[in-house]
Amino acid sequence: MLRVDKDAFPEDPYPPFILRQLIEIHVDRTLVLDDGEGLLGYVFFVNTSDGYVSWIMSLAIIPHQRGHGLGRRLMVEVLRRLRTEGVRQVRLTVEPANTAAITLYRTLGFSSEDGVAKDYFGPGEHRLLMTLAL
Ligand SMILES: CC(C)(COP(=O)(O)OP(=O)(O)OC[C@H]1O[C@@H](n2cnc3c(N)ncnc32)[C@H](O)[C@@H]1OP(=O)(O)O)[C@@H](O)C(=O)NCCC(=O)NCCS
Repeated sequence: MLRVDKDAFPEDPYPPFILRQLIEIHVDRTLVLDDGEGLLGYVFFVNTSDGYVSWIMSLAIIPHQRGHGLGRRLMVEVLRRLRTEGVRQVRLTVEPANTAAITLYRTLGFSSEDGVAKDYFGPGEHRLLMTLAL
């Protein structure tokens, strides 16, 4: 997962100890795609304590497997699980220039009425906030 994460977010991957501990704590909130030889991608999502909202924390597909429907497959499975859990709203943030991810989320029904939050992750790190009502 560290390798997949680094390929997907070369400038800002999860530090190893954070990713390790997140997985330990939220093992049932991590879905991976594995072809038997290696990891093709993963998605990581966490529910708020009241159980009504879930955040997509990270979604990544390895570079040479992109564009084959794998990212959509992971997201569809996450949304299916969240619906069965009674989660009412899914939230995520995305880099405003990340057309591939934004298009994927829009086709899944996410909207971005709250727009871009300036400096969301620190100076210059703006993020588009997207939500989906389940
Ligand atoms: C974003 C990401 C997860 C998408 O995964 P993917 O497997 O390549 O996406 P899919 O093949 O499932 O495509 C799903 C939809 O996304 C959109 N999409 C995918 N790649 C696109 C691109 N390069 N440009 C525009 N739209 C794109 C399309 O709507 C596509 O649906 P369609 O094939 O029916 O037209 C992948 O590009 C990735 O890992 N990027 C780097 C990490 C990242 O940005 N993660 C998201 C952070 S919020």
